[in-house]
Amino acid sequence: MDDDTASHARSFGAAADAYARARPGYPDDAVDFLVGPARRVLDLGAGTGKFTSALVARGLDVVAVEPSTRMLAQLRADLPVEAHEGSAEATGLPDASVDAVVVAQAWHWVDPALAVPEVARVLRPGGTLGLVWNVRDESVPWVSRVWEIAQRGDEHEMRASVETVGAPFGALRTYRTRFEHVSDRAGILDLVASRSYVIVLPQEERAAVLAEVGRVLDEEFAPGAPIRVPYVTHCARFTLQHPRGR
Ligand SMILES: C[S@@+](CC[C@H](N)C(=O)[O-])C[C@H]1O[C@@H](n2cnc3c(N)ncnc32)[C@H](O)[C@@H]1O
Repeated sequence: MDDDTASHARSFGAAADAYARARPGYPDDAVDFLVGPARRVLDLGAGTGKFTSALVARGLDVVAVEPSTRMLAQLRADLPVEAHEGSAEATGLPDASVDAVVVAQAWHWVDPALAVPEVARVLRPGGTLGLVWNVRDESVPWVSRVWEIAQRGDEHEMRASVETVGAPFGALRTYRTRFEHVSDRAGILDLVASRSYVIVLPQEERAAVLAEVGRVLDEEFAPGAPIRVPYVTHCARFTLQHPRGR
């Protein structure tokens, strides 16, 4: 991982509030696909708890792990779950202690050379690793205009990072679903402000990006109108194939 990528990966805490307000959750059918029959589930790179809340709502036995102290503080304030500071490379969990690991919108930030064996270590035999991304549908013209300013790229990152999962995982299954997140002008500005690309900009450049996005939204939508953001949710699920050699 180069220095730029590492600083982007560490940037989220600075926008934890905007993140919690603006980002959508995950559709039920995607959660079904990723979790299956698992009972104890690790939400890895849990952030402010957007995916964690769907696991809690199902009454599952949930543990959340997240490297950013500020994101984790927000998660702990909102959800009554076991939550630890840690990373995909070093979760701090015991061997063979969870049935499924889900990494929501975060696998592209991890070092797969360390994270793949770490996830395999904490999974029980036959356990699953689920990766999921909500990707805005940029074929919609206003979405394209906004993310032209706020930087594109999610889908490319996602495809590249799914390919980093190898042995001892096998049997990749994929699933895709669509939904719309109803937001408003302030919500779209928070959404842009919670992007790592925008978080790491110097203050003046960040303000200029947000002002330009505001101008586009004022052209596209009437004042106070709800804004429906179209998303495609991409899921990948891998099953642990081989004994870990312990
Ligand atoms: C886009 S946010 C997603 C948060 C949450 N999973 C969600 O769906 O809203 C990416 C998260 O990955 C975390 N992250 C960055 N590097 C990580 C790593 N090496 N291991 C685990 N999480 C990491 C960030 O701190 C941030 O909370």
